[in-house]
Amino acid sequence: MDIFIRANAQEVGETAAGVIAPFVKQGRTIGLATGSSPLTTYKELIRLYEDGDLSFRTIQAFLLDEYVGLSREDVNSYFKTIRNEFTAHVDFVDSNVHSPDSTDPDPYHAAALYEEKISASGVAIQLLGVGVNGHIGFNEPTSALQGPTKVQALHPQTIKDNARFFNSLEEVPTHAMTQGLGTITRAENIVLVATGMAKADAIWGIVEGPLTAMCPGSVLQLHPNVTIVVDEAAASRLEHADYYRTMEQLKLR
Ligand code: GLP
Repeated sequence: MDIFIRANAQEVGETAAGVIAPFVKQGRTIGLATGSSPLTTYKELIRLYEDGDLSFRTIQAFLLDEYVGLSREDVNSYFKTIRNEFTAHVDFVDSNVHSPDSTDPDPYHAAALYEEKISASGVAIQLLGVGVNGHIGFNEPTSALQGPTKVQALHPQTIKDNARFFNSLEEVPTHAMTQGLGTITRAENIVLVATGMAKADAIWGIVEGPLTAMCPGSVLQLHPNVTIVVDEAAASRLEHADYYRTMEQLKLR
């Protein structure tokens, strides 16, 4: 695991975009995440596109997750969110951006289809945020560490955290479809971004805590190509932060 500690959210985004950009240049398939954490990464990828350094014209992308019951046109659907925040600002072809199908009346069927689609394609690099309780995608605590794409009932904490995007707590969907922890960790490379004090416990759990389904992100400890990019606040519970800074300086490539 590479752990890069940065001064602020903008630098986190610049570093994460720097990890992703070479895969885009090679035309590889990327995995996208919604949430506020990846926004500075998207901003930097958009800047690279505007400067003529990157093109997404032939890139395939897979989203991590989607709410059950929200139409694709709903502003809070992840289908819509990823377009508004990222893919519509670059030269992505809309039909190359894939997500679990919230229009399928049977979310279990949609989840199984999505698993098949990702398995057939493979993902070269997956971008991740993390929930306050350590969830990645929408894999809440107790998720199977090697599980496939599934329908997940959302933890009350997650519903509370995500209520800020809706008019009321009651409007937040109770269920989501999410790539499983097994699906996510089949990506060849993973880059996880987190900022702010609210994520400090989750980052401790992922980097220094035990491997446990109670902190789903800790499954990344099993993956050989993981980069964690955090700001000082999100890194504030890490006991070995100085070691990580030294290791970054010693890195050969
Ligand atoms: C949601 C998403 C996650 C995201 C998390 C944190 O639960 N399913 O993929 O990492 O929110 O969101 P934020 O980055 O806004 O804190």
